[in-house]
Amino acid sequence: MKQQKGFIFDLDGVIVDTAKFHFLAWRKLGENFNFQLTEAQNEQLKGVSRVDSLNKILNWAGVEISQEEFDRFAWSKNENYLTYVAQMTPEDILPGVKSTIEKLKSGSYPIALGSASKNAPGILQKVGLFDQFDVIIDGNSVSKAKPDPEVFLQAANQLGVAPKDCIVFEDAHAGITAANSAGMTSIALGDPGILSHADYVFNTFTEITIDFLTQLQSK
Ligand code: BG6
Ligand code: MG
Repeated sequence: MKQQKGFIFDLDGVIVDTAKFHFLAWRKLGENFNFQLTEAQNEQLKGVSRVDSLNKILNWAGVEISQEEFDRFAWSKNENYLTYVAQMTPEDILPGVKSTIEKLKSGSYPIALGSASKNAPGILQKVGLFDQFDVIIDGNSVSKAKPDPEVFLQAANQLGVAPKDCIVFEDAHAGITAANSAGMTSIALGDPGILSHADYVFNTFTEITIDFLTQLQSK
């Protein structure tokens, strides 16, 4: 019998290019304590939850703040981030994503979202993809953030597909680590130098064929 495969998509930096909005919003927040976030540091924030990201930034900046200030900073970063999100349209879906989703769905493969973002449902609505996913696991559903595999294991569980038969699309170092620890096949979208621990690395979805995806062996 043919083994059923399941496909799990990260959101930020995979489906939409919101990674750049997170960067701009964190850099703006850093101005509050004279800290300028570098692109290399930002790489370490990709896939990482809002709270963990702020903790890393405070650590790099050498700043200590009260819990109340922490909550206020996290809130204000998100408010700034949402001003970028508010302008998003279906045009912001990254190249090749829509056709990959359509081809997987027409082959009856179940698909899930596995994102650290609490804004994921709102962003999917904005770009018109919310109804495409059989399962949505986001930052509101998990207790342990990437690189912990919880988000992907929950997605596999709800899809009813064994982790070894799941294929994860990720742009973040922490996300590839999470997919690998979940025992899933990891496909990175981005820089092969940064994402070399992935099973496969591509620049964009336009390079990934449906035949390649459906012929992948289970882990
Ligand atoms: C991840 C992003 O998808 O979601 C991170 O890569 C972000 O940069 C995290 O911090 C949490 O997102 P949000 O939208 O809940 O602040
Ligand atoms: Mg991402």
